[in-house]
Amino acid sequence: MTDIAPLILHGRHTSLILEPVVQGAPLWRYWGARLPDDITLPPLSAHRPTPSFSLDENIFLSVLPGFGVGWFHQSALLAHRDGRDFAQTITTTEIVEDRACNALSLTLRDTVTALALKLTLTLAPESDVLTIRTHLCNEGAVRLDLQWLAAATLPLPSTADTVHYFSGRHNNEFQPQRAQLGRATWRRENRRGLTSHDTFPGALIALHNTSQHTGLAYGAQLAWSGNNCQTIEWLDDGTFQWQLGEWLAPGEMLLAPGDEYQAPEVLATCSPYGFDGVARNFHTAIRSRLPWPEGGMRPRPVHINTWEGFYFDHDQTALMELAESAAALGIERFVLDDGWFYNRTDDSKALGDWWPDAVKYPEGLYPLAKHITDLGMEFGLWVEPEMVNPDSDLFRAHPDWALQIAGRPLLTARNQLVLNMALEEVQDYLFAAIDTLLRTLPISYLKWDHNRDLTCAGGAGGRASYHAQIRASYTLLERLRTAHPQVEIESCAGGGGRIDAGILQHTHRVWASDCIDAVSRVQIQNGFLNFFPPEIMGAHIGTAPAHSTGRTQAFDFRAAVALTGHLGVELDLRTLNVEETMRLKYWIAFYKQHRESLHQGAVWRGAAGDSLTWQAHGQAQEIASRWLLFITRAQPTELRHMPVVPLPFVDESARYHICQIEPQGAQGAVWHGSWLSHHGLPLPPMKAETVHIYEIQKI
Ligand code: GLA
Repeated sequence: MTDIAPLILHGRHTSLILEPVVQGAPLWRYWGARLPDDITLPPLSAHRPTPSFSLDENIFLSVLPGFGVGWFHQSALLAHRDGRDFAQTITTTEIVEDRACNALSLTLRDTVTALALKLTLTLAPESDVLTIRTHLCNEGAVRLDLQWLAAATLPLPSTADTVHYFSGRHNNEFQPQRAQLGRATWRRENRRGLTSHDTFPGALIALHNTSQHTGLAYGAQLAWSGNNCQTIEWLDDGTFQWQLGEWLAPGEMLLAPGDEYQAPEVLATCSPYGFDGVARNFHTAIRSRLPWPEGGMRPRPVHINTWEGFYFDHDQTALMELAESAAALGIERFVLDDGWFYNRTDDSKALGDWWPDAVKYPEGLYPLAKHITDLGMEFGLWVEPEMVNPDSDLFRAHPDWALQIAGRPLLTARNQLVLNMALEEVQDYLFAAIDTLLRTLPISYLKWDHNRDLTCAGGAGGRASYHAQIRASYTLLERLRTAHPQVEIESCAGGGGRIDAGILQHTHRVWASDCIDAVSRVQIQNGFLNFFPPEIMGAHIGTAPAHSTGRTQAFDFRAAVALTGHLGVELDLRTLNVEETMRLKYWIAFYKQHRESLHQGAVWRGAAGDSLTWQAHGQAQEIASRWLLFITRAQPTELRHMPVVPLPFVDESARYHICQIEPQGAQGAVWHGSWLSHHGLPLPPMKAETVHIYEIQKI
């Protein structure tokens, strides 16, 4: 029994409660819908008698469940010292309540195995996102072999029903999956060495009555760009524990006496407004963490990216003409993609040799860059720093710089190997190469790519170097950003292979997918928006047919789907006919007119009838009085009549003027909020692969 007061953090719509115990890590008592400020509760042990044939002392779920000392479920820690000290549990706890930051700081020690853990739980009231930081120090005299440290152990109620997670592959990221929660442990592991296309490090949890907009929903994501693991395990009282953390390779984390391990941060939230509420909480939290130059986001400039229009075929005159056409259309940032550097004529060679190709650019990149900036556009450049082709000057000079394991083949992917970023000389080489580009050219943007998974990731002394690789990449990004604080960076990895809240502490945009097919993009972007806000989601108007799928879609459909993210254009403008050029100019102007509301406010998403999805972007994050509503029909309908679309985001006591602005429809009409919310907005017939856009104004 404890007589210590519970530790409580309140958000706007959620609360969490921990129960300190005399000896041990604080227990999880509650994480869910907001409780009153003056909530009190008896200790857990007061109403949990010991069950039959059990330990004489009950062991409950704590923030750091140990192994081998009475907790039979998955532990937050797995470690040993030469086979000893394999059983750990917390023996002493220091608690600091930081009211100003709405945070709890817990210093937990196992004095028997000489381990110190520091956990910080911060609940941001404006987002209801709980950020958990976990840190381990080996205070013993012998080296510790750490196999697993949960970055967070979260409680889920017994009513937790399904886990919604995301899989995918190159060209098809963020594909929704679901699994029933039950007695079998649900587990997802990623061992690809980067965030990956197929195992997004986060998930959503539905209770029995959770829907898109109602009912309690939970979400968590790991802020980490490498290997990871999540499990949801059924517990003896019918509730569940959810652990997220870094997946460590055998022997990867050997902590010498005094050494420390910082687990990745976990962002976790719950919302009484269903999955959409969880998404909006994450949007708010991610927005507050993004490292914008000068502390704030500028309106997101329209991009032109050269990749699908030109690939490796860089002709300076043609690119200058492209820049002129782009500027005339209102495009604001020109990104010169792969193909610009020494000897890079295709994807079989040259990665690592980061200086301009003298054949394609006899006077270097300056004339093109200057031409672009003289036209009033920003100049951005593609790089893939972590990579090296065996056929490159860099590899010929330093074959030992690639990640490798003695006796194992150098497994290439897209003909390339991965540099060992933890080597100081690699860091210095890459810093110098990119710094030179940034210093000598008017570059204000980098597209930072990573086009393969890690294999044979052996580092110093032949030991696994996955963790060190990620930390070293973050360090290089930091070093460059410190030297060039104005530069924005895009994270790309064969499209969406490195999208996570960790890389987003160092970058400002992600390339959601190499697939620009607008039908595919509807699903990919919807999956993305569960965790990240639209303004950092690279979304381009591509060609028809789409290079990734071969499917052809109408220009306006391609444009409207791209409009809901950070807009770009990725095609050779010379191939557009007069009508398409006019439409492109129109859509760019439309985006500029509306980007403030597309990018800073609340996003609501939903579905109605068959294959009809909608997305509403509020002009404000809180209570918006103006909305842009995108209704998308990706597939042909099976219904004779169009369904109505309920709009749960409107104020039920207000009236709204609603007008279809694209394609321009009939005169607008006034609707009562209560009718819109409970019944819905009627829609005109829509063909497959069309988007209608409405303006909704409170009156
Ligand atoms: C990756 C990216 C593309 C493009 C190519 C260049 O596939 O996702 O957008 O930059 O690399 O090689």
